[in-house]
Amino acid sequence: MRKKISIIGAGHVGATTAQLCGMLDLGDITLIDIAEGIAQGKALDIQQSLTISQREASITGTIDISQIAGSKIVVITAGFPRKPGMSREDLIKTNGRVIRDIAKKIAAFAPEAIIINVTNPMDVMTYLLHKVSKIPSDRILGMGGILDSGRFASAITKATNTSPDQVFALVIGMHGNLMVPLPRHSTIYGQSLSNILSQETIESLVTQTVRGGAEIVKLLQTGSAYFAPAAAVVEMLSCLLYDKKKILPCSVFLQGEYGQRDLFIGVPVKLCSQGLKEIVQLDLNSAEKEAFEKSSESVREMIQVLATE
Ligand code: 2OP
Repeated sequence: MRKKISIIGAGHVGATTAQLCGMLDLGDITLIDIAEGIAQGKALDIQQSLTISQREASITGTIDISQIAGSKIVVITAGFPRKPGMSREDLIKTNGRVIRDIAKKIAAFAPEAIIINVTNPMDVMTYLLHKVSKIPSDRILGMGGILDSGRFASAITKATNTSPDQVFALVIGMHGNLMVPLPRHSTIYGQSLSNILSQETIESLVTQTVRGGAEIVKLLQTGSAYFAPAAAVVEMLSCLLYDKKKILPCSVFLQGEYGQRDLFIGVPVKLCSQGLKEIVQLDLNSAEKEAFEKSSESVREMIQVLATE
């Protein structure tokens, strides 16, 4: 039987995720948005596209968040992007209000669901969801590492003219400027980038990765990326729904792993049908550890901003 997947927020990321879920027959979808008509209109359009493509998954759109009841997984894409003149702190507070409200609704209507958060600043909002909903941390996951690693892989694939099949790229840490790309742990056909590419090439690939999201914002002018973020959410969904044993970088609650405690940040994990199965400990050298600590510190500072709300 198809599981129920709810997607809160019917903007570009939410709607693209819904369409991909339908095309891949991952589940029956409920798309929710507080703006009247948006989720309903997009759901009708997606349903018609699924019929044309002969898919059986169903999709409904609604403004009623209580419709998340019975979901196996709830994906959160609601919230605001940063607008000109808005500081990072402003965004933390604005989206913090949205996420606090959603966390209470999830606790009321779908307390058994696995939660995937996409809303930025992602690691901080995932932490807030956990604190407010009180849902156990092994069912709360943030999407960021797969997207950043995908951007790294895409840059490597293009620069070296290699099949994506044979490129493995890894980015851990926060989803933001202080993300931690790991060239030493990234490979082409099993060979570490650190052994086969020049330092200069590696630095250029890392820069492209870190600036990947901002470059798209600059080009689009009116919003941020959505095809790759949606593909990354779908990667998590399929690992959860099919109980795959794949290791993926996701934002999870650390309780001593990687030397950090009481925060959500990106590290490699195994997912299972119940949510987080295990955190995979990588062997980091001192420079990598230092970068991860800096990244964690930045997430902690943003969490402090929430505390002043
Ligand atoms: C991105 O990195 C905005 O988090 C989104 O494109």
